[in-house]
Amino acid sequence: MTTAAPSVSRERLLEQEVRNLRAEVERLRLALAEKKGIDVSTLQAPRHGPDPSAKHPAGGSPRVVFLANVVTRPNIEVGAYTYFSGEGCEHFERENVLYQTDDPADRLTIGRYASIAPGVRFLMNGANHPASGTTYPFWMFGRGWHERREPRFRGPTTVGNDVWIGLEALILPGVTIGDGAVIGARAVVAHDVPPYAIVAGNPARVVRRRYDDATISKLLELRWWDWPPERVTRNLPELLDGRFDQVT
Ligand SMILES: CC(C)(COP(=O)(O)OP(=O)(O)OC[C@H]1O[C@@H](n2cnc3c(N)ncnc32)[C@H](O)[C@@H]1OP(=O)(O)O)[C@@H](O)C(=O)NCCC(=O)NCCS
Repeated sequence: MTTAAPSVSRERLLEQEVRNLRAEVERLRLALAEKKGIDVSTLQAPRHGPDPSAKHPAGGSPRVVFLANVVTRPNIEVGAYTYFSGEGCEHFERENVLYQTDDPADRLTIGRYASIAPGVRFLMNGANHPASGTTYPFWMFGRGWHERREPRFRGPTTVGNDVWIGLEALILPGVTIGDGAVIGARAVVAHDVPPYAIVAGNPARVVRRRYDDATISKLLELRWWDWPPERVTRNLPELLDGRFDQVT
């Protein structure tokens, strides 16, 4: 009995074929330039990761978006290279930033190089009903019910750089998530998260710190996310291995 090859290996073969074809096209392009007497070194542009102004930077997949290139609200700011993934990811601000008011102070700021998994949602300040008396929002319906009370304003929501937010996490209003933090899948983040902490659960609690205090201080000083892409490329192995004292 024969069994069909798993589709994943077929996908890998196709990917490899595409890479081979791309390499062949590049080889032919350079050969042609050489034939025409063009200095080929001027054609071989160094590669330093994706174009940060690309909307769908992962090989064009519509399931991955660089958020900075799709957000439009004046009170949402996202740094370069921060991506959001999942079906309909380009509708992030409509589907995943909920109850945000027009108040400039009801602000969502996300740093650079953050990874945001499918289903992550940010609950903003318009989400809460006042709890000083009855929570029913009479003024929503008018017709003589115009008396209004505002809920407590919890402040802006801030997500640092190099933060990874896991599947379907919920970030409550007014929370600050420090650089390098990890938010577990389905966490409900109700309090600030220190830099380089891993939090999980509801309410999210620190599971552990990713590095010792000295390394965390060094990383917060290093701020690799602000480097030009050339420097990131050069130091990629060190950054990925956590050899932060060896970066150049
Ligand atoms: C948070 C996370 C990164 C922790 O990974 P880790 O550092 O390897 O931690 P561990 O698996 O050792 O778990 C540590 C403790 O936290 C608990 N924990 C881990 N993730 C949890 C979660 N999402 N919710 C609740 N508890 C969680 C574990 O049960 C364990 O508890 P214990 O010490 O009482 O046994 C990981 O569990 C997670 O949630 N990843 C998100 C993955 C995701 O969403 N991917 C989407 C594609 S980007």
